[in-house]
Amino acid sequence: MKTKAAVLYKYGQPLVVEEVELDEPKAGEVLVKIGAAGICRSDRHFMHGHAHIRLPAVLGHEGAGTVEKVGPGVTLCKPGDQVVLSFVPACGRCQSCLEGRSNICDTHMATGPNMMDGTCRLHKGSQYINHMGKVACFAEYAVVPDTGCVPIKTPIPMDKAAMIGCCVPTGVGAALFSAKVRAGSTVAVVGCGGVGLNVIMGAKLANAGKIIAVDILEGQLEFAMKFGATHMVNAADRDPVEQVKEITGGQGADYTFEVFGSAETVKTAYEMCRKSGTVTVVGIAPIGAEAGINAVDLVRNEKTLRGCYYGSAHSRVDMPMLVELYLSGKLPLDDLVVRHYSLDQVNEAYDDMDRGEVGRGAIVFQ
Ligand SMILES: NC(=O)c1ccc[n+]([C@@H]2O[C@H](COP(=O)([O-])OP(=O)(O)OC[C@H]3O[C@@H](n4cnc5c(N)ncnc54)[C@H](O)[C@@H]3O)[C@@H](O)[C@H]2O)c1
Ligand SMILES: [Zn+2]
Ligand SMILES: [Zn+2]
Repeated sequence: MKTKAAVLYKYGQPLVVEEVELDEPKAGEVLVKIGAAGICRSDRHFMHGHAHIRLPAVLGHEGAGTVEKVGPGVTLCKPGDQVVLSFVPACGRCQSCLEGRSNICDTHMATGPNMMDGTCRLHKGSQYINHMGKVACFAEYAVVPDTGCVPIKTPIPMDKAAMIGCCVPTGVGAALFSAKVRAGSTVAVVGCGGVGLNVIMGAKLANAGKIIAVDILEGQLEFAMKFGATHMVNAADRDPVEQVKEITGGQGADYTFEVFGSAETVKTAYEMCRKSGTVTVVGIAPIGAEAGINAVDLVRNEKTLRGCYYGSAHSRVDMPMLVELYLSGKLPLDDLVVRHYSLDQVNEAYDDMDRGEVGRGAIVFQ
C-alpha cells in the first residue's frame, strides 16, 4: 500500500513528507493506522546528525493508533484495538529479556531500525527505508512487530496514548523504576521538556518531598510547577549546582535526573547530587560526548551514577498501568499535550521544540 510519511534522507536537512510504499505485515507483525505521534527530541538528534540511524529512515517513535490488520500468527492484538507503540518491542528470549530488562532487548538492539528479522517493510521503488525504533510513526500507517503493539482496554484520546509510547514511560519510569525515588526525598530534574515533566510527575507519584525543576527557560520552569515541581532553578541566571545546594541546605538532592542530553548537563546533574545520592541520566548526548566526572568524589561520597533507557519500563506491563494512572487522574497528560500539528507541519513542530515552546507537541492524523 501507499502511505504518506516523513523521511529523513540526510543529516542536517528537514524531513521530506511524501508518499512511500509499505509492505504487508509478515508473520508476527501488525499494520497500524497511526492516530497520533509525539514530538520527542530523540528524533531531532537524528535530524541534526547528533545520533545516527541507517538512512533513509521514517522517523517518529512516540505513537499510538488502531490495528488495521495482523500478519500470520499474531495473537497479542486484533483489528480495531487501540494500541500504544513501543520503540523497544522485546523478543522475550534474549539474555536482557530473560534478566527482566526487556527495555534493552538484545534482539531489538541488534536489528536496529528494521523489523525483528532484519528487513524493512518501507520502501520507495527498490530503495528500502528504515523504521525509527521499529515504529516509524511519522506516517499515516506503520507495520510494527506485534510485541511492540500494546492494546489499551479503555480507549483514550490518541494524542495522550501516543505520549505513553515514549515520554511518559521514560520520564515516570526514570523516577519510579530506574532511580526508585523514595517518599520524602529531594529530587532535581535538569531539563523540563516533555520527558523531564514526566520525571517530575513520577517523582510526585513517588511522594518525593522537594522537587526542583532546573531549566534555562523561565517558561519551562513555570510550566513545570503545574506538574508537581516545588522549586524552580534557572540555570541561565546562575550556577544551577549552587542554587540546588542552597535549596537543600548545602547538601544537594537525593536523586538528580539529566533530561536534556549533553555532557555539560550530565556533569551538572552529577554535581548537584548529594552524598550517597543517585544520578540518573535520561537525555541522549551527541555521539562521542564524554562528561568529566570527579572519580574520587564518586567513590568517597558513594554516589550512584546510572543510565536509563525507556524508563527501565516493561512496555507490555507498564504501558497499561500508565494508561490506568491517566484514567484515574493521577497523570495529567491533558495538560502536557499543548500543541497539535498535521504531518505536513512536522518540521515546524521541531522548530517550535527548539524554540523551547512549553509542553509536548503531537502530530494528529484524521
Ligand atoms: N533515555 C531514553 O530512553 C530517552 C527517551 C526519550 C527521550 N530521551 C532524551 O531525553 C532528552 C529530552 O527529551 P525531550 O523530548 O524532553 O526534549 P525537550 O527539548 O522537550 O526538553 C529538553 C529541555 O532541556 C532544557 N535545557 C536545555 N539546555 C539546558 C541546560 N543547560 N540546563 C537545563 N535545561 C536545559 C530545554 O530548555 C528543554 O526544556 C533528549 O535528549 C531525548 O533524546 C531519552
Ligand atoms: Zn522519545
Ligand atoms: Zn529480547
